[in-house]
Amino acid sequence: MEDLVKRAAKDLMESRYAIALTGAGMSTESGIPDFRGPKGVWTTNKEAEAKAYQRYELFLNNPKAYWEEMLGIHGTYGTFYEQIRQAEPNPGHYALAELEALGIVKCVITQNIDGLHKKAGSKKVLEYHGSVHVVRCVSCGLRFAREGICLEELPPRCRCGAALKYDVVHFKEPIPSDVMKESESEALRCDLMLICGTSAVVYPFANLPRMARFRSGNVKIIEVNADPTPLTQEGISDYLIQGKTGEILPRIVQVVRKGMSP
Ligand code: APR
Repeated sequence: MEDLVKRAAKDLMESRYAIALTGAGMSTESGIPDFRGPKGVWTTNKEAEAKAYQRYELFLNNPKAYWEEMLGIHGTYGTFYEQIRQAEPNPGHYALAELEALGIVKCVITQNIDGLHKKAGSKKVLEYHGSVHVVRCVSCGLRFAREGICLEELPPRCRCGAALKYDVVHFKEPIPSDVMKESESEALRCDLMLICGTSAVVYPFANLPRMARFRSGNVKIIEVNADPTPLTQEGISDYLIQGKTGEILPRIVQVVRKGMSP
């Protein structure tokens, strides 16, 4: 393990344009369950998973009922969002923020809706699956802070008159084109991709490492994850550091700090 940590630190220090891709595994050490791990939300609650696949359609057909579900007026999903909003970053989030501050990681592209990368101080964060702290108008694309909107009347409405929804991208919902375009250009621009805490099975996000690999054989792709993923098995990644992101990423930063100090 130590050799791989040193190798990753060396690769990061030698990189010209490194980016990080992250998933739910980054936030389990902040008390938010992942989805497909042994204690994952979908693994332990098949009904919740089935409902998640109907959520976007519910919004399109009945935005009032959608909001009643999301606020926990009906059902239990609302409490999950509340839990996510209360969570705090862990050492893994701070490590990525520090790699950005050191000028090494240029951008974090995350599937996580918890806002913990920003809370930890990362500046350039692309929230590929949206955020629980934001609401979005699917008609004109405007986004607003969740805290600032009035929920007396449901659904809350945008200035353009359309119903607002959580910025969170539900299953079967298209990824907003602005974040998708920017994520793809970052993936095509990078010479190192540090992939942390994702099973890499959800598309189109899981395409990003493949786009980088197929664009150039020189790009370095490093996984930090509790388990191997299809990226490991298909040889898309160069190597996997198997373990917890909250433990491994700070160790990589320690070696980088030493390597960069005079
Ligand atoms: N450190 C490292 N890896 C971890 C940790 C940890 N502390 N905790 C869990 N993992 C690993 C799990 O073993 C699993 O491989 O993180 C991965 C999490 O995978 P998923 O639960 O599938 O989460 P993610 O890849 O982010 O899911 C993608 O699917 O359900 C949708 O929209 C949701 O954004 C989510 C998307």
